[in-house]
Amino acid sequence: MPEFNRTNLASLLQQEEQLFHKNHPKSFELYQRASKSLQGGVPMLWMIRWAGSFPVFVKEAKGAHFTDVDENSYIDFCLGDTGAMTGHAPDATLKAINEQAQKGITLMLPYEDVIWVGEELQRRFGLPFWQFALTATDANRFVLRMARMITERQKVLVFNYCYHGTVDETFVTLDEEGTPTSRANNMGPQVNPLRTTKVIEFNDVAALETALSARDVAAVLAEPVMTNIGIIHPQPGYHDALRELTRKYGTYLIIDETHTICAGPGGYTASHGLQPDFLTLGKPLAGGVPAAVYGFTREVSDAFTAKLSVEDSDVGGIGGTLAGNALSIAAMKATLENVLTEEFYARAIKLQERFTVGVESVIKEFDLPWIVKVLGNRTEYWFRPKPPKNGGEAHAAVDSELDRYMHLFALNRGILLTPFHNMALISPETTEADVDTHTKVFREAVKTLFA
Ligand SMILES: Cc1ncc(COP(=O)(O)O)c(C=O)c1O
Repeated sequence: MPEFNRTNLASLLQQEEQLFHKNHPKSFELYQRASKSLQGGVPMLWMIRWAGSFPVFVKEAKGAHFTDVDENSYIDFCLGDTGAMTGHAPDATLKAINEQAQKGITLMLPYEDVIWVGEELQRRFGLPFWQFALTATDANRFVLRMARMITERQKVLVFNYCYHGTVDETFVTLDEEGTPTSRANNMGPQVNPLRTTKVIEFNDVAALETALSARDVAAVLAEPVMTNIGIIHPQPGYHDALRELTRKYGTYLIIDETHTICAGPGGYTASHGLQPDFLTLGKPLAGGVPAAVYGFTREVSDAFTAKLSVEDSDVGGIGGTLAGNALSIAAMKATLENVLTEEFYARAIKLQERFTVGVESVIKEFDLPWIVKVLGNRTEYWFRPKPPKNGGEAHAAVDSELDRYMHLFALNRGILLTPFHNMALISPETTEADVDTHTKVFREAVKTLFA
């Protein structure tokens, strides 16, 4: 199998960095100006981790494309890391936003449309009761509170190298010896997360039973397919075991569909008949307008209601003044009704298949020990020959330098991939020509590595 030259990679990366500087003078100027008022010159700290040494400043985005302030055009395969999976500024959502904005944006009172959304969520995900939040992080935080309140248990269980937003309890990983430890760079945790959290590897049924058997775990918080350390599919029977064991030990099962909504209109839950106690979802739900939801069973609703003090419910730790605001709800209704439809998925998944075939053809041509993993309209290449079965294996396979090079090479040729892994999301507005451009650029990048 071919090996590429690491020393060569460093100088290739340097060349791409120079090209990036050359083609983005205005972005650089704005970045320098931003550095005087924004921490690190960016609105969110992690944005300094984009592949170039400063971020591209966007001029405008529509559908699967955007342009930057230097008039470079891009095909967007990142799509706001699922936040814009609908394609940027979908027409139906825009129309609803414009109409609603004339009629009031936030009131702390419901409009009738919220009922349509609740009924649609029932229909898609099979859970009877719903609440609203502004981010998936908040939705996860709120359901963890509900689960702990009902069960009167302190602990939650997560999978190694999961990501569920900035939820304190989730920043625990297993070290090389398999010992739970606070996640690298866990910034100022309120308590040592080992006090709140158990962490095990995904796809390990024995570890799951051991962790749950102490009967101190309020909830398992899980993506049905891991996506944040790359796509890791459940092994056959894993979800059955997860459901059976959580029921056996009185632990709630929370399925976080924030990314796996890429699998279909009802997420992985509907497409694979999962039966969670809670389901959380955010990001693309309102076409990019901040909105998130959490749903739960009648049993959860009854148990929660029995313990709820309505008098103090506004200061109980589950809230959000702007949650359920009229603009988010209008955007959510329009997006669910007109954008995230069966046809959306049919078209986007077909394009994903074309993308995957293209990448696989290059892997084959160069006889590379690499693979592609897919879920719905999400596709991703891995620099390893076999799919990892858990987060620990996936993390060990990360090649940050190679990732950076592939991302920057693509960016310099008008392609934005999702940062930190080589993931592409396909929207129905992506064209076959866009997909083929990616294949061509991917091939060129590979060629430079093995030249
Ligand atoms: C699975 C999952 N859940 C929740 C979140 C949090 O979403 P947000 O940052 O919009 O709160 C993320 C973010 O990447 C995610 O991947």
